[in-house]
Amino acid sequence: MKTTGSQVTIAMDGPAGSGKSTVARRIAEKLGLLYLDSGAMYRAVTLLAIQEGLEANSPKLIDRVKACHIAFTDNGKTILLNAENVSVQIRTPAVNRRVADVAKIPEIRREIVEHQQRIGAEGNIVAEGRDLTTIVFPNADFKFYLDASVTERAKRRLAELKTQNVDATLAAVEAEIRARDEKDTTREHSPLRTADDAIVIDTTCKTVEEVVDFIVEHIYGSEAC
Ligand code: DC
Repeated sequence: MKTTGSQVTIAMDGPAGSGKSTVARRIAEKLGLLYLDSGAMYRAVTLLAIQEGLEANSPKLIDRVKACHIAFTDNGKTILLNAENVSVQIRTPAVNRRVADVAKIPEIRREIVEHQQRIGAEGNIVAEGRDLTTIVFPNADFKFYLDASVTERAKRRLAELKTQNVDATLAAVEAEIRARDEKDTTREHSPLRTADDAIVIDTTCKTVEEVVDFIVEHIYGSEAC
């Protein structure tokens, strides 16, 4: 396996519903690495904004983000905001609707990116999101960009919502995904884009296992194995 010293950093980006969270989590389990869900951090500060009644572009929110404490436990499965487990609250429709607006504020991104870089400083990490391959870990040992058709991504999101007993239609979920894609790819700061040296994987017709196997084989089959 090609790595930086004895440590490995795997970065993964892609749009909502591309499967990157599930894939990254499985790879972390398989290879015994730390899992970093960067989107959960933007969701946590969005929840903070909602709880405190602050607009995304409010200077007060930036102060609150600087002062807040975000941590992960249970290898990235649980997120704590000021010591409170907010893993379920950060997935609500209210957070979904507002998170892209909070994530586009440069001062907020700066705080969160620095936090992510501190978490990843030791290496041995699989980190996923929108700017992990381009901004957060530009020197990652392995970079992947996962994608899938909008309809397939909406179907996956709908299935996930059903397991949480959240009522929604495919058309509504698809519209929400399109709106978020538009915001994530066109924002001024750190838009979602494919890093030149990332391997692009279209997951539309692939199972999670197929994508995980492909990535693991690529990692172990790489030059300096
Ligand atoms: O991956 P997700 O759906 O949980 O991400 C939630 C939002 O956070 C998404 O609209 C984009 C934003 N995000 C970001 O701007 N940068 C990241 N590294 C991860 C997520």
